[in-house]
Amino acid sequence: MSFTQALRYSSSRHTVLSIRSASNLAKPFSSIHARRFSSSSTVSSGNKPQSVSALAPIGVEGALSTRASLPTSTPRKIFSEFALPDRVGIVSGGGRGLGLEMAMALCEAGARAVYCLDIHEKPTEEWEAVKEYVGRLERLEQNPSSHPSSRLEYVKVNVTDQKAVWKCVEEIGDREGRMDVCIAAAGVLKPEQDVLEYPGEEFSEVMNINVNGVLFTAQAAGQQMRRFGNKGSIILIASMSGSITNHGHAWIAYNTSKSAVLQMTRSMACELGGEGIRVNSLSPGHIYTKMTAQYLEPQPHLFTKWSSLNPLGRLGRADEMRGVVVWLASDASTFCTGSDILVSGGHHAW
Ligand SMILES: NC(=O)c1ccc[n+]([C@@H]2O[C@H](COP(=O)([O-])OP(=O)(O)OC[C@H]3O[C@@H](n4cnc5c(N)ncnc54)[C@H](O)[C@@H]3O)[C@@H](O)[C@H]2O)c1
Repeated sequence: MSFTQALRYSSSRHTVLSIRSASNLAKPFSSIHARRFSSSSTVSSGNKPQSVSALAPIGVEGALSTRASLPTSTPRKIFSEFALPDRVGIVSGGGRGLGLEMAMALCEAGARAVYCLDIHEKPTEEWEAVKEYVGRLERLEQNPSSHPSSRLEYVKVNVTDQKAVWKCVEEIGDREGRMDVCIAAAGVLKPEQDVLEYPGEEFSEVMNINVNGVLFTAQAAGQQMRRFGNKGSIILIASMSGSITNHGHAWIAYNTSKSAVLQMTRSMACELGGEGIRVNSLSPGHIYTKMTAQYLEPQPHLFTKWSSLNPLGRLGRADEMRGVVVWLASDASTFCTGSDILVSGGHHAW
């Protein structure tokens, strides 16, 4: 058995042995700690590689290993690393805006089902249109049998209700039998208020949604990833406002909440890395959505101002977040954890 084959064999065994029931979710720290360092995809092997891609052989190794069988072997292109075949994901705030765009991107990448968690009783028409489009993906493909269609699902839940979020995501786990991707995008931006007068009640409200809600969503998905032992990728939607202050805007609660998400990312990534659960944050710059429209529409001069604040000279589009989330969710980013990915049109570079 070659080194690569041996690793693959031990990885698949580990996956089977790691499946746990929901009742085992609450583990004492010692057992979690022991498991953190027992991942079979990481081995102590002297000067040999310490891990192997689930898609191996890829890259240069792929070129070398298929050389002998040319011209019959089909070279594997990099796009396969971005695919999400059969994966299951949740996206909070997936009812509209960036969350919906990201949920749709996961489906286009081949996910089996993506659950949009949002606070409204019923999804919007926009969401229904995306669901219908996603259901047609199979027919849009040239070879339908190689790409079964995805499902976009809607679940009403308030992300500030920890127990409700855990329960609803556990039910998704029960139904789908796996959990692979979490995007925590639900968030709010409140009207501007002088920092020295900012009401405590409103500050707490913003922190409750933008920080607690993000943690509860990530916890819920992480519990299911641990339960099924299939690793996973958690993507917390922060903002460039967590690293910079938006010039001329009195957004103390929002900015503080986004900084907290950046540290939450690092902290979670360090605790969960041993279980193969990756945690990264994505920090968009100014993107035109309903959230930002509340500022831009009544104050058109802000279009020019915000656009002038980055080297590209424009606002971002929600669809410009598609590539980065699919990369973070997929096997194309398996060595990326604890990172913040800034996608701001270069706003932060000035
Ligand atoms: N638009 C931007 O320029 C921008 C920039 C950086 C970061 N972000 C972040 O991206 C995320 C999405 O922003 P957007 O622009 O798409 O905003 P949006 O207002 O269009 O979407 C936010 C979604 O979150 C949902 N939501 C709010 N509170 C909730 C709760 N308690 N429980 C469940 N769902 C809830 C809303 O119903 C809505 O569907 C937010 O976290 C935001 O802070 C946005």
